[in-house]
Amino acid sequence: MSKLIVGNWKMNKSSKEAQELLEELAKKSSFCCDIVVCVPYVHLGLASRLLHKSQIKLGAQNCCHETSHKFTGEISVRMLKDFGCEYVIVGHSERRKHFAEDDLIINKKVLLALKNDLKPILCVGEELHEPDGSYLKDVLETQLKIGLAKLEANQLKNCIIAYEPAWAINTKERAPLDHILNTISLIRGVVRELTAVRAAVIYGGSVDFTNSAELLKQPDIDGLLVGRASLDFSEFTKTIHSCPH
Ligand code: 13P
Repeated sequence: MSKLIVGNWKMNKSSKEAQELLEELAKKSSFCCDIVVCVPYVHLGLASRLLHKSQIKLGAQNCCHETSHKFTGEISVRMLKDFGCEYVIVGHSERRKHFAEDDLIINKKVLLALKNDLKPILCVGEELHEPDGSYLKDVLETQLKIGLAKLEANQLKNCIIAYEPAWAINTKERAPLDHILNTISLIRGVVRELTAVRAAVIYGGSVDFTNSAELLKQPDIDGLLVGRASLDFSEFTKTIHSCPH
């Protein structure tokens, strides 16, 4: 299975800046792994036009948990599909924290995305760095068991789980490798209780080209979710090229 590298632009880029970066990315004819860029909603139309002949797939950073029309300010999964999105980030820690998204709402988004042929990138991870004791396991079990509730076993192959410890996001250093590997193994254990299907698990939190190669050569890490380093063409492509061929 080839590695997956997802760029999460968060709330960045004017339309001119977005166009410049997307044009540069679209010019690159081949990549050694699967690439997705999750742009702000307002750039989806532009990104869809500029990327549609490239190898880069398009994703959104969120979606509404309902399909009815009465949700002012929200964007439905059908709209995302209409814009050519193939992926959608769901349950990012910034949405859990600043928009009070809980696991039940996140589960609705996961189910809606799958029903509409979008691959959800379900973000899970702890707020605090407390590797000892049961805190980490309790947090992940709750997020995964509720977040993935009511999924049919074969739907899990279209779902990506992103392990993003909130304490390692937007910092100077990513989480240590042994912590990432231990936690991913914990995640795989919880998911195995739900289904025999092997889920894709990627890591995010202060990844850049200086620390990505070590992660990408681990068989248990299926890819990366990259924030800041996906905003600059050179940094993002160097991160991508750190993937072993
Ligand atoms: P940074 O790579 O900027 O730490 O962001 C990580 C992240 O939140 C990606 O979703």
